[in-house]
Amino acid sequence: MKLLITGATGLVGGELLKICREEGIPVNYLTTRRNKIQNGDNLKGFYWNPQNGEIDLSCFEGVTTIINLAGASVAKRWTAAYKKKIVSSRVDSLRTLRLGLAKSGKGQVSSLISASAIGIYPSSFTEYYTEKAEGEDTGFLGQVVASWEEEALKFETLAIKTSLLRIGLVLSEKGGALPQIVMPIRKYVGAAMGSGEQWQSWIHIEDLARMIIFLAQKEGSGVFNAVAPNPVTNKRLTRETAKVFKRPLWLPNIPQFVMKIVLGEMSSILFASQRVSSQKIEKHGFNFHYQNICRALEDLYQKWGEQ
Ligand SMILES: NC(=O)c1ccc[n+]([C@@H]2O[C@H](COP(=O)([O-])OP(=O)(O)OC[C@H]3O[C@@H](n4cnc5c(N)ncnc54)[C@H](OP(=O)(O)O)[C@@H]3O)[C@@H](O)[C@H]2O)c1
Repeated sequence: MKLLITGATGLVGGELLKICREEGIPVNYLTTRRNKIQNGDNLKGFYWNPQNGEIDLSCFEGVTTIINLAGASVAKRWTAAYKKKIVSSRVDSLRTLRLGLAKSGKGQVSSLISASAIGIYPSSFTEYYTEKAEGEDTGFLGQVVASWEEEALKFETLAIKTSLLRIGLVLSEKGGALPQIVMPIRKYVGAAMGSGEQWQSWIHIEDLARMIIFLAQKEGSGVFNAVAPNPVTNKRLTRETAKVFKRPLWLPNIPQFVMKIVLGEMSSILFASQRVSSQKIEKHGFNFHYQNICRALEDLYQKWGEQ
């Protein structure tokens, strides 16, 4: 197995590269930043510019599986221009890969694992979403994910097995949502959001990277939820984080309108509720190392100390 990874310089990509290094899995990766190109044992970087459809075709050499993680962050203010970037960075990346692959000849490439997000499921306090759920969230993020998945599925026209990984809230000490949750708690001003009853389907970053390797080795196809077996409410996540970081919670919950003033439309991410099932990937034989939020947070707390 040899991987081609896009978005390898990001949060999830970094953890994936770590596992590949440990397991001796050879990796090519694509980056939009020339200064991020590195070459080492089993590692080779290539430049691309999906916006212009530019890609170095030698990136496909010897590759069996493509892991697509590229996309502009959704955690920035959603101006009209930035919204376009969130969508186009994802759709253009997949299109550039597919057209590049068609041009260079498929070679040994047999499968694609493409990042997606649980934001495709409509916000609900009561639904429990499996991959079979019908209907898409009609908000901006739902539309982003729908276009992203549609573009990924076009790889099937090249007879490439395609898996869509609907990723939940990735917990890591290095970035993403958790440091944003921890920061106010550490400063004694942490609080839950809104009613605090919204479901947060989280996953420990190590389990996510292991899941990607697991799927790459299986060469399966289809939709997989990438969330831990036990989602929690926002209130519980806030409370458990405060407990692990040994801080009291004393402030009332933060009303949604306040966050809307601070963050604009992007604040909707904080109040969306998606309780998502991990049963499908478990039935395929994947074992989570971090099933419960307490264990996941305690592990990340230790790593925080080591930083
Ligand atoms: N973290 C989460 O909680 C979470 C939850 C659900 C879904 N996801 C999805 O999972 C994927 C990986 O997440 P992550 O947290 O690792 O993201 P990340 O840290 O923001 O990294 C994403 C990578 O995408 C590349 N990128 C950024 N802008 C781009 C553009 N305009 N065109 C092409 N590539 C671009 C960058 O790589 P280069 O600069 O090297 O090109 C960057 O390192 C993302 O697609 C994200 O939407 C993440």
